[in-house]
Amino acid sequence: DRSIKIAPSILSADFANFGQEIRCVEAEGADWIHVDVMDGHFVPNLTFGPPMCAAIRKHVTTVMDVHLMIAPVDPYIEAFAEAGADVLTAHLEAGPHIHRTLQAIRAAGCKAGLALNPGTGIEDVDYLLDMIDLVCVMTVNPGFGGQSFIHSQVEKVRRLREKIGDRPIHIEIDGGITPLTAPLMAEAGADVLVAGSAVFKGGSVVDPAPYGDNIRAI
Ligand code: DX5
Ligand code: ZN
Repeated sequence: DRSIKIAPSILSADFANFGQEIRCVEAEGADWIHVDVMDGHFVPNLTFGPPMCAAIRKHVTTVMDVHLMIAPVDPYIEAFAEAGADVLTAHLEAGPHIHRTLQAIRAAGCKAGLALNPGTGIEDVDYLLDMIDLVCVMTVNPGFGGQSFIHSQVEKVRRLREKIGDRPIHIEIDGGITPLTAPLMAEAGADVLVAGSAVFKGGSVVDPAPYGDNIRAI
């Protein structure tokens, strides 16, 4: 399914009210829910682990898309699979054995995602094409919401789309997506658009009305 999917990142939601935040964006048209796991080591920020993902899962009726910004990855795959990740994405840069990591993700019953930092080329994807269900092109350096979109990644997505061709592999983009940058990426060939601050900014669980407008604007 190559249609455009919007995946709000709950990194920018109210951490004490995930259930309500998720219900609201799903009611307003979110296609997937993007969950950012950070370890304070692979990226300079900390979020949460498998127990929080399991708690979040109870509220997600669409797709729980778990983005692991952790190193190492392998010791935690089983736990995130058990926490209910539908898509489990690991970074190419997170360790020397991405092939093994992707194998383990599929063996755990999840769709396998491969994330690429902005400075990473797409050549290494060649020998992984039959092992992945998604490539996540980071359009900011991972670690924080609310950063500016890195424009060089538009060309990268275009080249990646050529490489992938008709294979059933999603191209997801993550970081700095706004109503201005989203169309560039959709045109270049991305089909899953992650958006954190552009969805949740200006809202709150008390008055979540802007979320729907924010999603529709993207
Ligand atoms: C960044 C995370 C993103 C982040 C995007 O490291 O992977 O998912 O939430 O936030 P925005 O959309 O605000 O750039
Ligand atoms: Zn992310």
